[in-house]
Amino acid sequence: MSSFPALLHTMPLPEDLGRALCVITGASKGFGRAVAQAVAGLVTPGSVLVLAARSGDELRALQAELDQPGPGRAGQAGVRTEVVVADVTRTEGLERIVQTSKEAFSESIEHIILVNNAGSLGDVSRYTKSFTDMAEVDSYLSLNVSSSLCLTARVLEAFPPNPGRRCTVINVSSLCALQPFPSWVLYCTGKAAREMMFKVLAEEEPDVRVLNYSPGPLDTAMQVEARSNTADPNIKKSFSDMFAKGQLLTCEESCAKLMKLLLEDTYTSGAHIDIYDL
Ligand SMILES: NC(=O)c1ccc[n+]([C@@H]2O[C@H](COP(=O)([O-])OP(=O)(O)OC[C@H]3O[C@@H](n4cnc5c(N)ncnc54)[C@H](OP(=O)(O)O)[C@@H]3O)[C@@H](O)[C@H]2O)c1
Repeated sequence: MSSFPALLHTMPLPEDLGRALCVITGASKGFGRAVAQAVAGLVTPGSVLVLAARSGDELRALQAELDQPGPGRAGQAGVRTEVVVADVTRTEGLERIVQTSKEAFSESIEHIILVNNAGSLGDVSRYTKSFTDMAEVDSYLSLNVSSSLCLTARVLEAFPPNPGRRCTVINVSSLCALQPFPSWVLYCTGKAAREMMFKVLAEEEPDVRVLNYSPGPLDTAMQVEARSNTADPNIKKSFSDMFAKGQLLTCEESCAKLMKLLLEDTYTSGAHIDIYDL
């Protein structure tokens, strides 16, 4: 007789994420933009995507692209997009994201999806012993840790988890949540703290599916910063080499793996899953 996990592997993958309200931070460029494009093609009619970042022009350009009818496009599938120009380090930014999400919500929504993607690398041109300024560190942690905790809490408060409606919270994590990189003290500290926060959430909320997804080295603005500004020569060289050898991943290929994880929905809630584990 086949075991349950073996049966799971033979079962066809669900084709969509359902009628979803999907909030994505940092949707203006890079990985967040790719996530918005991918999710738009995987949700069913009546879904809404809430796209948040500070760059209004980029968000509106993405909205116009997604609203165009076409295969896998929101326009064709009866999916709406809402743009929220917001700085997630500001309380009013979080309030606007949640208010827009509440206005977009209807009782027919089957799945709440929150993608905590917005983030920054921080100053990687210096070593730990130079970070004497508490305001600088606080400001980094505000974007990279506090904003994702408070936004997640606000979304869960607005749409209380219950067994009748799916709720998925994704943290865009990194290898740096697990491994120390010299001269990346802010980034590694932020990613480690943020990941633990989502692990605690997974323990507390059985009705919420929580995923810490580590997308791999992506060809984005953050990578340019990494290979240009890193103080540690070995880390700097490894990023420059990856770029020179064409080893960076596109946001689209990493995002495709994330979508597969979400469709399969078999990961352990709170797990750290790296693209290279898949
Ligand atoms: N690139 C990589 O190799 C890599 C590897 C592992 C993990 N990651 C993680 O993947 C995520 C996305 O990275 P990425 O490479 O796509 O970075 P990116 O190209 O620098 O994009 C960062 C996104 O965050 C948004 N953002 C930054 N500060 C914000 C603020 N205060 N309020 C609202 N939005 C803000 C930016 O939008 P605005 O500037 O318009 O606000 C932008 O959309 C990050 O969490 C990163 O740590 C990246």
